[in-house]
This record gives sequence, C-alpha cells and structure tokens, in this order.
Amino acid sequence: MPGVVYFDPYGEEHRIDADEGQSVMETAVANGVPGIVGQCGGSLACASCHVYVHDEWLARTGEVSEMEDDMLDGAMAERRPQSRLSCQIRMSDDLDGLTVEVAPEQL
Ligand code: FES
Repeated sequence: MPGVVYFDPYGEEHRIDADEGQSVMETAVANGVPGIVGQCGGSLACASCHVYVHDEWLARTGEVSEMEDDMLDGAMAERRPQSRLSCQIRMSDDLDGLTVEVAPEQL
C-alpha cells in the first residue's frame, strides 16, 4: 500500500496509506487531512486540492495537463513550480512516500 505524507497548513504531518489508483486528493479527504477540500470531486473544476509536491517527487508525479495548468493559474494560494492539483495524482507503489505540502488557501 503506497503511503503519502502531507504537511497541512498548520505544520502538522499526516502519514496515510493510500489505495492503489486513489488520488492524492481522495486519500486526503477520506482521512480528514486539513486544508484539502476537493470540492469538485476531482473533475478539474475547483483547484481546492492544491498542493506543493516536494522537489524530489516532482518528476515522478507526471505532467501537468493543459486543463490543470489553467486551473492552477486561478488557484487561491500562490502558484509555485511545485504546484499540483492533488486530484490529478494517482497513487501507485512507485509513489510510495510521496510528500506534499497543502497550500494554505483553497477557496
Ligand atoms: Fe477540484 Fe481537484 S478536486 S480540481
């Protein structure tokens, strides 16, 4: 079971086992990680699942699609090179240990 490490906006660390194929947003919402809202359910319509992926994991999380790129431009919190919408990252064993920081503002 691949694990995700979240640092929430209050500085707390959450280590959570994800189901294979579950998104980083779904994993957070199902486990009550503060700060990730996931309002649109993962359909790229809200940007309320904004995270900053730690540099060492960035290359493994895949490409940002054009639609995700547009949504990130409208995200509430500052966009950084590490910005991703966590509903677009699906967990797999290859991502075991993935570490993300939850963006401070989502809506
Ligand atoms: Fe809405 Fe990710 S949950 S864009």
